[in-house]
Amino acid sequence: MGKIVLVSSPKGGSGKSVLARHLLVSARQADIEAIGIDFDSQCTFDKWSRRRDITRQMFPDFVKAPVEQARLQDWRAGLRVAKASPFAVIDTPPSVEDHLAAVSQLAEAADIIVVPAVCTQDDIDSVAPWVEALKKRQQKLVIVLNRANRRTTSFARMRGRLVKIADVCPVEIPQLEDVHVPSSKGLTLLDYTKSRGQEPFEEVWAYIRRQVRI
Ligand SMILES: Nc1ncnc2c1ncn2[C@@H]1O[C@H](COP(=O)(O)OP(=O)(O)OP(=O)(O)O)[C@@H](O)[C@H]1O
Ligand SMILES: [Mg+2]
Repeated sequence: MGKIVLVSSPKGGSGKSVLARHLLVSARQADIEAIGIDFDSQCTFDKWSRRRDITRQMFPDFVKAPVEQARLQDWRAGLRVAKASPFAVIDTPPSVEDHLAAVSQLAEAADIIVVPAVCTQDDIDSVAPWVEALKKRQQKLVIVLNRANRRTTSFARMRGRLVKIADVCPVEIPQLEDVHVPSSKGLTLLDYTKSRGQEPFEEVWAYIRRQVRI
């Protein structure tokens, strides 16, 4: 059976698409025939993958990272594609409330739901009810803290609040000014041999991989 990771958060700009593409590249670098599914009508994940295809024509050493577009109105079709792959990373739009039925079905089919969250009160206000709803359905979920700054007191405070409501990934993704730079070529920080911010993405992948046993 293939494994499905659903990246979902009702909060816009929390890092869903950034995390989705780093997880997809991690899986591919580990020789897993992974696929990305993009349920966001903005197609951020899909467009990134198309740019990657173009880059790969010149530099084929970068691992392939295919992404299929899907529609929440037709979630079954997207889920079928995900299930046909040994490993699928699903990116979703922030508007969970507008598509609650579809996102809930995807969540049910997923082996783990990854909820990226920035350590601010606004993010917690938005994320906490979603996490509680998923918990009621006894779904396996993990919060991944993003844009984290360990030196601030608010980080520890917000992290503490989230730990009380759900599992929090032991590794957080720090604030990385350059995280968007490789994206213009369809790449990620993981495509470079040495780049700041690579390690946390590798560690988050290692953690999620262990959770879904792949
Ligand atoms: N760790 C980080 N450090 C710095 N910038 C980040 C980090 N993670 C994400 N960003 C930036 O924040 C913005 C939002 O990230 P991203 O698109 O991944 O969020 P999203 O949750 O997919 O947004 P949406 O809900 O609109 O789909 C992007 O410009 C991205 O480059
Ligand atoms: Mg997105």
